[in-house]
Amino acid sequence: MCGIVGYTGKRCCVSTLLEGLRRLEYRGYDSAGLAVVENQGLTTVKNTGKVEALKDRSAERWPDFERCEGYTGIAHTRWATHGAPSEINAHPHLDDSGKFAVVHNGIIDNYLELREHLRGQGCEFKSDTDTEVLSHLIAKCYQGDLLHAVAAALNKVKGTFGLAVVCSEHPDKIVIARRGSPIVIGVGNDETLVASDISAIASYTKRVIFLDDDDMALITPGSIEIRNIENVPVSREIAQIDWDVSAAEKNGYEHFMLKEIFEQPQAVENTIRGRLDKSAATAVLNGLNLEPREMAMINRIVIAACGTSMNAGLVGEYFFEDIAGIPTDVEQAAEFRYRNPIIEPNTMVLAVSQSGETADTLAAVREAKNKGAIVAGLNNVVGSTIARETGRGIYLHAGPEIGVASTKAFTCQVSALLMMAVLFGRGRRMNRTDGENLINEIQQVPNLIQQVLDRAPEIEKIAIKYAKAEDFFFIGRGCMYPTALEGALKLKEISYIHAEGYHAAELKHGPIALLEEKVPVVALANNIPGRDKVLANIQECAARKSPVIATATDGDADIASLVQDVIWIPECSRFVAPVPTVVALQLLSYYIARERGCEIDQPRNLAKSVTVE
Ligand code: F6R
Repeated sequence: MCGIVGYTGKRCCVSTLLEGLRRLEYRGYDSAGLAVVENQGLTTVKNTGKVEALKDRSAERWPDFERCEGYTGIAHTRWATHGAPSEINAHPHLDDSGKFAVVHNGIIDNYLELREHLRGQGCEFKSDTDTEVLSHLIAKCYQGDLLHAVAAALNKVKGTFGLAVVCSEHPDKIVIARRGSPIVIGVGNDETLVASDISAIASYTKRVIFLDDDDMALITPGSIEIRNIENVPVSREIAQIDWDVSAAEKNGYEHFMLKEIFEQPQAVENTIRGRLDKSAATAVLNGLNLEPREMAMINRIVIAACGTSMNAGLVGEYFFEDIAGIPTDVEQAAEFRYRNPIIEPNTMVLAVSQSGETADTLAAVREAKNKGAIVAGLNNVVGSTIARETGRGIYLHAGPEIGVASTKAFTCQVSALLMMAVLFGRGRRMNRTDGENLINEIQQVPNLIQQVLDRAPEIEKIAIKYAKAEDFFFIGRGCMYPTALEGALKLKEISYIHAEGYHAAELKHGPIALLEEKVPVVALANNIPGRDKVLANIQECAARKSPVIATATDGDADIASLVQDVIWIPECSRFVAPVPTVVALQLLSYYIARERGCEIDQPRNLAKSVTVE
């Protein structure tokens, strides 16, 4: 989604702002801009398209970025919500006097009403955005104190915001505020940075302060004053982040997505490290902060999530029910928040989110807390809002996921959910031997993934063969059903091929009408329970002349004669099979998208973390 960067310090700010924006590029955006406080007032530069284009535009204004006379500035990458992607709609937005510049993530719900009111007071609106009301409102509320003006303006606003404001009268100040959209402060030496995402500032400082909702801050190069929106001082701790900046570089891979696919053995290793206790045949997940007695009382689990994280949750549902015997439901977070879900005192709500910032998942967390559930997070980004608000949970430790299409987060989420099911299972009906077997299997996951990665050239050949198809079906049963959903999601988001994931048995209840020779079916037919039934479904597809690509277990002698192509997956149990299989599907999607010349790391219309409803 949109990204914010801000800088105030001793250095000229333009290159820091542009570098910050470049590091936010992965989030997906359609235009970008910056505003710098200079002696003669604010200078803004905006552009549609890439940060590289904004850099060229900025060079027209500042031929040498290191020698410009601006030491305070804010910048933004926009993902259009209100108003088309255009230079006019790109942030920063200024008031009529050109004194105040605002960059904003989130949505101002009452902007139409505010705009009419401000127009009545003579303000001239240049853009179609909701954000522009903020710059005019702040200007109207300004009486010499920037923090007060922003607070007064925000008191009139309904909606969500993470924002940064500069004013030409205060060349060393930035005011920031948050409600529902993250803002983090980077504490440097004689310089202070702000961003919506740590990755924008982590190369400058590892000392950060996360703002909470309704916090505001006035920052200067050497001071940070945090207040709430009611103007009461609040204190927030400085956290030391452990963020390897090189992990957010491509390191020789053509795309972040490919790098992240190949990182998965290590990522899963990091997720499971230190969390498997062989002697007790169980998992150790201290972050859940649950005593065995409390854990035993949990009689229902509700997983709330979106997109890929929801697909991981759907795999987890099989684990919790099958391994731990706990009734489990998976809810689209957007649905959960609005449909008055039934939560009983011993219900655990697990919010699965890579970013920990997804607006609907966060809202589900708040709803679940209001209803008295035990709420935990399964997140990758340390210090993210969901992780902080749940206060208990499991971090994936997968490292930064930059590619917009989620890959390593899924395999780490599934691995973490499996560990959690073992932990809950061992506290209930699972015996020691079964616990030991599962622990051994989880330990094998990195190696299973590596074996699939070693077969990437074979998968690439299959991908090239089918790259011209315009429709695909992915089918599976059991845990392989959500795996099929995830395979279809990956393909559609990066290759723009229409792809649907279906339960293999559902095919004949309607979608089979679409099968014909131009519509390939990817059938997940690994040698696990349900395989024979999938083979029957493959026959149904073949009878409609659909070419079938099957995932099958090494050594399955029957399958090759039934299908056009086979992607071989090493032998493993039904519980871990989704992981190596999904890795094969990620590679299939990746190579198809590459063959079609798609922008793999920044697919059209998509954003990395969806912080609006
Ligand atoms: C798909 C994808 C999205 C995210 C979804 C939830 O590749 O990345 O579907 O999975 O937006 O995001 P998180 O996990 O950050 O809550």
